[in-house]
Amino acid sequence: MDNTKEQVLQAYRFRHACKEFDPDRKISEADFAYILETGRLSPSSFGFEPWQFVVLQNADMRAKLLPVTWGAQKTLPTASHFLLILSRRPSELMPDSEYIASISAQVQELPQEVAAKKKEMYHRFLESDFALLGNDRAMFEWGCRQAYIALGNMMTSAAMIGIDSCPIEGFDKEQVERILEEEGILDRSRLGVACMAAFGYRVREPRAKTRRPVEQVVTWVN
Ligand SMILES: Cc1cc2nc3c(=O)[nH]c(=O)nc-3n(C[C@H](O)[C@H](O)[C@H](O)COP(=O)(O)O)c2cc1C
Repeated sequence: MDNTKEQVLQAYRFRHACKEFDPDRKISEADFAYILETGRLSPSSFGFEPWQFVVLQNADMRAKLLPVTWGAQKTLPTASHFLLILSRRPSELMPDSEYIASISAQVQELPQEVAAKKKEMYHRFLESDFALLGNDRAMFEWGCRQAYIALGNMMTSAAMIGIDSCPIEGFDKEQVERILEEEGILDRSRLGVACMAAFGYRVREPRAKTRRPVEQVVTWVN
């Protein structure tokens, strides 16, 4: 067990926001499938999996995004695998939407009466607990929060097998979504871009990690 803990911590120390990848080193198909699988298996509120993953390997498409993706100037062209993490828009997250109905029935295989109860609870959650109903931006961002859990899991699972990554929010969301829609990659009525992530192998060692000490981060109430 101690050995496992040390391995996990080593992965957390190994992971850093990699700024440039070795363009000649590609992640194997099996390794990238493993990374995606840890995203797919991630938890989400009510289990609604609001995310979609787009693996952007097309060089022309990457070049089109480069001018509006300032936070990935060296990673977008060099990443072995470049991921767009999408999240569902409110139209798809409303309790009455086809998407929610299909998740409950086909994915979670809930009996009809259980699905109906869950829908009621979900409606209450959206309406009063988190007060998201009627605020499209807040509801989209709520979906994005789940997508970031998948992002975190994928970066950690990559690090566990010696693969580098960089999470990316450095982009003009409006422009990126416009380009992706023009190219037929994104249906903006249903989905939006939550964030991006680049994966590959580092070209150089990063500077030493800096973090606030644990006493500043954690408060215990005993
Ligand atoms: C949500 C998110 C968005 C980020 N966006 C970018 C980005 O666009 N470009 C970049 O080079 N780094 C980006 N970073 C990396 C952070 O700057 C980095 O994680 C932080 O400085 C801590 O360093 P470390 O990850 O190397 O430990 C992002 C990190 C997160 C979590």
